[in-house]
Amino acid sequence: MTRRLSRDEAAQALGELRGETDRCRECPLGERATQSVCGEGAVHAKIMVVGEQPGDREDLQGRPFVGPAGGLLDRGLAELGWSREALYVTNAVKHFKYELRGKRRMHKTPAQREIEACHHWLEREIAIVRPAAFIALGATAARALLGRRVAVLSERGRWHEDAAGRPVLVTLHPSALLRGDPQQRDAAWAAWLADLRIALPPR
Ligand code: URA
Repeated sequence: MTRRLSRDEAAQALGELRGETDRCRECPLGERATQSVCGEGAVHAKIMVVGEQPGDREDLQGRPFVGPAGGLLDRGLAELGWSREALYVTNAVKHFKYELRGKRRMHKTPAQREIEACHHWLEREIAIVRPAAFIALGATAARALLGRRVAVLSERGRWHEDAAGRPVLVTLHPSALLRGDPQQRDAAWAAWLADLRIALPPR
């Protein structure tokens, strides 16, 4: 795609993409999921936020980050004075991967081959939205964007460059904050906000 699409064209292209990802069976995940979950937000956002994959709620609603991790993302953005509508929020993998425990569908980390199979959908979103920079939430997103294994704890909080020279800020996935040591939660939260502030300065 060479020219920047108008807002209407971009919205239409993202709608079409959603139809295609729904039908995608390039890996086994599409068969078991309710639907695909593509990104949403400003179609010409300057910043694209990339997570791992939809969770249970996202799978049911067809929207990214609407469960507990999404609640933390919204809270963090609000504390930084940003709203989600100014960003484009998506995932590296478009279908929910889970295992059944009783009746509960428990999140399962996507395999590298599944992340790779999904990569061209993420690239399509990037080509349509054309963000100036990315925030990678967690190791799966960081690896999908940077094309290499990323040690999130040592590489967090600074800019990296993807193969096309685009800036990628790496930080923790918000669900890591839910899992962390309760005594360390306030410090972990402050450190996460400090990371995000690098890409999302006060406005
Ligand atoms: N976790 C993610 O990585 N993405 C979502 O959309 C929800 C939870």
